[in-house]
Amino acid sequence: MALDRAALLLLVLGLGLAGAQKTLEEVPLQPGFEARRVEGRWFTLRLAASHGDLVSPTDPLRLALHSIHVEDNGDVAFLLLWRGAGVCGGENVTVHPTELQGQYRGSFEGGRLRVRFVGTDYSSLILHVRFEDEDVTSLWVLLARGKLEDPQWLGKYLGFVGKFHLQEAPVFNVDGQCPPPR
Ligand SMILES: *[C@@H]1O[C@H](CO)[C@@H](O)[C@H](O)[C@H]1NC(C)=O
Repeated sequence: MALDRAALLLLVLGLGLAGAQKTLEEVPLQPGFEARRVEGRWFTLRLAASHGDLVSPTDPLRLALHSIHVEDNGDVAFLLLWRGAGVCGGENVTVHPTELQGQYRGSFEGGRLRVRFVGTDYSSLILHVRFEDEDVTSLWVLLARGKLEDPQWLGKYLGFVGKFHLQEAPVFNVDGQCPPPR
């Protein structure tokens, strides 16, 4: 009887562990993803991460995604802009297609990046970014073509925030060019 209970306990724990393991692979991909249709300007509406202290609301430096470009070779470039405390700049972070449609790979600041287009109707977009250096950080981003949240996509996004136990972080949107140097 005691043995049976131990076996049952192991089975339950085993299933639990299998479940936890599975969530790592459970980041979906937009079926039939068409990269060309995500080109252009996007606004960040929500951001959540696997680490809580990723973005400090008091940090004067604001980093924001501005737009997405698709190169002729299929690479996807994310134009990131930063502003604040006397600095202003931008950089394209380029990722390359993988064997999975909608999944891209690249590197950033010495770490490895994996980007997944989780879901999109090309007006709203849920993006998953996995950044790996000494640590692994997952970012989940809800983007839209305008500043209004589509309740359906917000619902999907919040579903992932709950499922993966993510911490929501403040978001910034930065526009335009740097002022000319004086
Ligand atoms: C990023 O790439 C776009 C499209 O190729 C280009 O127009 C823009 O000047 C680039 N920006 C930076 C900061 O490199």
